[in-house]
Amino acid sequence: MKIGIIGAGFIGSALAVRLTSLGHSVLIANSRGPETLGEVAQKTGATPATAYEAARYGEITVVTIPLKNIPELPKDLFEGVSAGVPVIDTSNYYPMLRDGQIPELESGDLTESEWVQAHLGRPVVKVFNNILADDLEKLGKPAGTPGRIALPVAGDEAVAKQQVMALVEELGFDTVDGGNLHESWRQQPGTPCYLANMPAAELQQQLASLGTVRTDAQHAQFLANHAAQEKQMAAQGIKL
Ligand SMILES: NC(=O)c1ccc[n+]([C@@H]2O[C@H](COP(=O)([O-])OP(=O)(O)OC[C@H]3O[C@@H](n4cnc5c(N)ncnc54)[C@H](OP(=O)(O)O)[C@@H]3O)[C@@H](O)[C@H]2O)c1
Repeated sequence: MKIGIIGAGFIGSALAVRLTSLGHSVLIANSRGPETLGEVAQKTGATPATAYEAARYGEITVVTIPLKNIPELPKDLFEGVSAGVPVIDTSNYYPMLRDGQIPELESGDLTESEWVQAHLGRPVVKVFNNILADDLEKLGKPAGTPGRIALPVAGDEAVAKQQVMALVEELGFDTVDGGNLHESWRQQPGTPCYLANMPAAELQQQLASLGTVRTDAQHAQFLANHAAQEKQMAAQGIKL
C-alpha cells in the first residue's frame, strides 16, 4: 500500500519503520520540510515529502503531530483527496505539558478526535493514541499469539474503520471496535486502557464497562487521572 504520514516524531517514525518493513511505500512529512528529514528517511526507509504530498499520496494517511499544532495545518490540506482515503488521527491532549487548555476538551463537549476532525474538515479514525511509540514499533505479534495487544479503533465511517483495522492487524495488533468518534473518550488519556497494552477480551470488557455516553463524573475522573499523570511526568522532567 501507499501510506502518507504527516508528523515524523516518535509515532510517525515508529509507524514508518514498521510499515516499510512490511513492504509498504511511505511518504513522511514534518513542519520544517523534506530537506530536514534525511535522518528519519535513513532510519525508517520512508521518503521525505511535504505535508501536501503526504496527504495526496496514500491509500491511507496518518496525521500524527502534537494536538496544539493541528490548527496550523493548511485548511486545504485534504482538498481534492478522495473521500475513500481514511485519515488516521493519533492525537492525545496534554494540557499541562504541551497543548495548553482547549475549552471544548475541558468541557467535554468534544472528544479529542472530534476536535481534530473539525479542524481538518475531514472524517478521522482514532487509533494508535493509547500505545507508546516504542511499544508500537516493537510489540506487534502475529495473529493468534497469546496475549497479543489489542488497540481500540474509533470512527464514524464503517468502511474507513475496517480498512484501518486491517492495517493495525497487519502491524501485529488485535483490534477492538471503539465505537464512533463521539465515543472515543473511552480510549483517551486517563482512561483504563490508556497505555495499558491489554489483550482484546480485556479491552473489550473495559470499554463496555464504561458505557458509551460519558457522564460528568467520568469526564471529571479521567481529566483528574490524566492531570496526575502529567504532574508525575513533569516531576520526572519529561517534556513533550
Ligand atoms: N510519543 C508517543 O509515545 C505517543 C503515543 C501515542 C500517541 N501519541 C500522540 O501522537 C501525536 C504525535 O506524537 P509524537 O510523540 O510522535 O510527537 P513528536 O515526537 O513531538 O513529533 C511531532 C512531529 O510532528 C511534526 N509537526 C508538528 N507540527 C507540524 C505541522 N504543522 N505540519 C507538519 N508536521 C508537523 C513535527 O515536525 P517538526 O519537528 O519539523 O516540527 C514532528 O515531526 C501527539 O498527539 C501525541 O500525544 C504519542
